[in-house]
Amino acid sequence: MTTPRTRPTVPPEAPAAVVAALRAAGCVFAEEEAALLARAAGGAPERLAALVARRVAGEPLEHVVGWAEFRGLRIRVAPGVFVPRRRTEFLVERALALAPRARTVVDLCCGSGALGAALARALPGAELHAADIDPAAVECAARNLGPYGGRVHHGDLFAALPAALRGRVEILAANVPYVPTADIRLLPAEAREHEPPTALDGGPDGLAVLRRVAEDAPGWLAPGGCLLAETSGRQAPAAERAFAGAGLVAEVAVCEESDAHVITGVLRP
Ligand SMILES: C[S@@+](CC[C@H](N)C(=O)[O-])C[C@H]1O[C@@H](n2cnc3c(N)ncnc32)[C@H](O)[C@@H]1O
Repeated sequence: MTTPRTRPTVPPEAPAAVVAALRAAGCVFAEEEAALLARAAGGAPERLAALVARRVAGEPLEHVVGWAEFRGLRIRVAPGVFVPRRRTEFLVERALALAPRARTVVDLCCGSGALGAALARALPGAELHAADIDPAAVECAARNLGPYGGRVHHGDLFAALPAALRGRVEILAANVPYVPTADIRLLPAEAREHEPPTALDGGPDGLAVLRRVAEDAPGWLAPGGCLLAETSGRQAPAAERAFAGAGLVAEVAVCEESDAHVITGVLRP
């Protein structure tokens, strides 16, 4: 079992037996997780037992309790949907630094819609669209983005978006799958067994989806608009070449604290 992406911050208040069961299963933050599970169970012992059993069996904490924390927001995450990672908050920071007054935002490969929700909260009134190829993700994102007036589309990358967005997008956030196919087996079991391969697999070098996004992005970006994607440090130089090759002004930013690498590509005005 691995550390959850949402580091629990709730004080312990669960039965000692629950803490012991979680600790025995390898949970690093057993007390905090026990408290979250107890709260999710709402005081019903049978429900608590069922939630603990799922967690002990290796299901991600976020799937068990039904939400993940992202930039201070509680994002609903359904089983089978990619759990937003805290390091991806850096991508949102970069987007807001590059386009602090953006009016048109797209969250492509949106998963739960965590990026779209965080951007929408920071940019009140902005037009928000999100898209994903996985129907479970689309349904989850629709619930998370509905309160912001976000529209969520289903389909393959840009083919899912309304044509009226062409040439108008000021922030194009695309946290695409970027794990090289051969490295999927090295991921923690929680990811391998509970997140869909389409959310993880980036092809032979991990950049297959990112290249497709970079190639088509200039047709959707507004002049001065930016495309943002997460990569690994190893992939960053090739990602930068892909962005530059598509005609974007490319730059890689690194957050040492979370080990996040974000590539940005600005369409020249
Ligand atoms: C790494 S997850 C990121 C999810 C979300 N943006 C986040 O950061 O939490 C990648 C997402 O891309 C979606 N995806 C993969 N290939 C896609 C494609 N060709 N078109 C649209 N979405 C795709 C997956 O279904 C998954 O939800």
